[in-house]
Amino acid sequence: MLLGTQKINSKNHLEIGGCDVVDLAAQFGTPLYVMDEAFIREKCRAYKTSFEKEYGNAAIAYASKAFVVTAMCALVGKEGLWLDVASAGELYTAKCGGFPMERILFHGNFKSPEELEMAVDYGVKYVVVDSFLELEVLSAIAEDEGKTQEILLRCNPGVDPHTHRLIRTGQENSKFGFNIKNGKAMEAVKAALRRAEGLNLAGVHCHIGSQIFELDPFVEAVPVMAAFIKQIREKTGAVMGVLDIGGGLGARYLEDHNPPTIEDFAKVVSDAVKSAVAETGIEKPMLIIEPGRSIAGEAGTTIYTIGAPKEVSIPEAPGVKTYLPVDGGLSDNPRPALYDALYSAILANRAGDKPTKVYTVSGKHCEADMLIESVVLPEAKIGDLLAVQTTGAYNHSMASNYNRFTRPEVVFAADGKADIVVRRETIEDLVKCDELPEHLK
Ligand SMILES: Cc1ncc(COP(=O)(O)O)c(C=O)c1O
Repeated sequence: MLLGTQKINSKNHLEIGGCDVVDLAAQFGTPLYVMDEAFIREKCRAYKTSFEKEYGNAAIAYASKAFVVTAMCALVGKEGLWLDVASAGELYTAKCGGFPMERILFHGNFKSPEELEMAVDYGVKYVVVDSFLELEVLSAIAEDEGKTQEILLRCNPGVDPHTHRLIRTGQENSKFGFNIKNGKAMEAVKAALRRAEGLNLAGVHCHIGSQIFELDPFVEAVPVMAAFIKQIREKTGAVMGVLDIGGGLGARYLEDHNPPTIEDFAKVVSDAVKSAVAETGIEKPMLIIEPGRSIAGEAGTTIYTIGAPKEVSIPEAPGVKTYLPVDGGLSDNPRPALYDALYSAILANRAGDKPTKVYTVSGKHCEADMLIESVVLPEAKIGDLLAVQTTGAYNHSMASNYNRFTRPEVVFAADGKADIVVRRETIEDLVKCDELPEHLK
């Protein structure tokens, strides 16, 4: 499987953004995250043009949690997208990337007073409120500063997106949002409207989950949200000008994965909103979509150096299992451990060779960290380079220093040139926040 600008060059090496991956590994070391810049731009443009075509008044807010570094914020900002941030750190990164605050949404189910103050001070467009306490604290902060903060209410539409249980967020018992069915969402609307001094309730939001391969759950959520908008108008007279239906479109991790295209997603969602508007008679809202994984995921590839393959046979089971150790693992990609996430890979330095042997790709942590349980590759040797695909989302942003590993470098590859966007951590970086108390010196 080759994604985006990936191709196999005349040296039988994998190329990304016109850069030979073997050269990138030699220049920057491994593990190395390589982001295909043109592919990210292509996804951003596909979202923008298809929602403009199918719906009109729509904003695409890249969900920065998927992959958030200064350069990524700058890139999506220049592509004209909005940005969804979910912490002070993400907001600060956006600011460092020069992202326009009037295109930022601030999320989170438990924002601290400091984070809310920061959102108001920075002038973010919408704070997406997720609790009654937050309504109180935010309105007090805004009033103190003599401002009126625009907000959306995070609602729970009670929709099951049929995805992994740990990435479902729109079902009835989710920790996120105000439940529409049990009346909490309407209570929150009224509470927000009572705080008109500090808050302006501009619309409603929902996000049903992630890595979604079927469009039906989105089609199910839209009428619930539209009916709620109508109910708000009937009960309070307030008109919701914004409907944000979150993110969630899946990415292609394996050859046989076929997530809907962005164009299909835009058509189905836009049609669902337009028909819900017609059926309920609500004013046509501005539509916000918050894609993360479907913009960054397939654009990322992690390059590892392979160690000594290890064959393991056990008397009870037939055959031999061959472990292929790589110089990273859980710390740069926790998703297999967290969600049983599946990945595919190719040998970057012999990319066109015929895959003949089944391997289990293991990480180098003090854990049974398997990156890929089963993948067919050409016969691999020590020093070969493994390119694990679709690692652009929720890899770097979820990376840790477990076992005191240093986090890898991130490069943007485009037009035959690779730019460092995050330098590799050094072992000195690992201790820079440590303190040694006097009595232990
Ligand atoms: C509120 C919100 N919006 C958008 C997203 C992005 O989801 P995805 O990366 O699946 O598109 C998430 C992910 O958790 C989210 O919580």
